[in-house]
Amino acid sequence: MANPPQNLLHSIGNSRIVLSPMAGFSDSPYRRLTRAMGSAFSITEFVSTEHLFRSNPKAISLFRFEESERPIVFQVFGNDPDILLRGVKRVLHLGPDGIDLNMGCSVRTVSGSGSGAGLLKCPAKVKEMIRRLVVETGLPISAKIRLGWDHENLNYREITDILENEGVWAIGVHGRTRQMAYTGRADWDKIGEIARLRQIPIFGNGDILSHAEAREKIKTYGVYGVYVGRGAIGNPWLFSGIDRSNLAFADRLPTIEKHIAAMAEFYGDAAAAILMRKHLTQYLRDLPEWGAIKAEIYAQTSAVKLHDILSHYTYANSKAS
Ligand SMILES: Cc1cc2nc3c(=O)[nH]c(=O)nc-3n(C[C@H](O)[C@H](O)[C@H](O)COP(=O)(O)O)c2cc1C
Repeated sequence: MANPPQNLLHSIGNSRIVLSPMAGFSDSPYRRLTRAMGSAFSITEFVSTEHLFRSNPKAISLFRFEESERPIVFQVFGNDPDILLRGVKRVLHLGPDGIDLNMGCSVRTVSGSGSGAGLLKCPAKVKEMIRRLVVETGLPISAKIRLGWDHENLNYREITDILENEGVWAIGVHGRTRQMAYTGRADWDKIGEIARLRQIPIFGNGDILSHAEAREKIKTYGVYGVYVGRGAIGNPWLFSGIDRSNLAFADRLPTIEKHIAAMAEFYGDAAAAILMRKHLTQYLRDLPEWGAIKAEIYAQTSAVKLHDILSHYTYANSKAS
């Protein structure tokens, strides 16, 4: 085999802000949109390697992507090194540019069974998983972690030491413990400590809501880059440095329409209409117009109609003003 690139940095470019993997949000249409607006590379939502191992079509379909998303990293989770490797190998033919191991999911069904943040309790298993992923896939491997299981077990130094020694090219760090789930604040001082301890790129993660905040975190804490999750839902402008609060309804519409069209093409018209509800809520709920159209949006079962409602509303309002 040709010497595979162990490092994705050469193809990332200058952007240091990345759409964080989010189940139900960082799908192919939204990854495409955010990549085009400046997200540095693409990471899928997490997919069970147990399901991949069983060739579950739904699990495999979560890895559908388009070329414009590249570099594309497939994120996986699992608690058994053999199943993990066998599951990952089932999808290598799809052509990912890297594999990311989820070591941060706090959901009880995942972390309680030893996957996601549950792996933080098993450093020896992490070592085996990463070693095998690096050797057996030949792809750049990364991991996304939390600071520890709880405040009594903040083992981020030990875990990041293992990850670095086993050859990951980067680590994403959500600055909370598993026990915190999404409560409290991300501890950026500890993320900064990890960035100082490690030679490889660290992507800090937690509570970033704007492009300016992302830049400020990179500068203040010395991280290579950041992952932005909830703050990027309904706000792809965050990646290009445009402040969404300066954008009126009509200014947001072209981007939203692109998103709707991509969703319709990817999921089909009816499914896209339903899936777009959560996105549209986040795109528009800070605007006075949202109150007026929300009920109509939620009643729609066709993405084409969603598009019509939004553009008619803009047109009617421009005539009225
Ligand atoms: C709806 C939702 C789904 C998520 N799914 C994933 C996932 O599949 N993989 C992952 O590593 N993290 C997942 N996360 C965690 C985020 O990537 C991120 O680490 C977390 O939200 C903290 O960052 P934020 O404050 O910027 O949102 C998810 C978060 C949310 C809100």
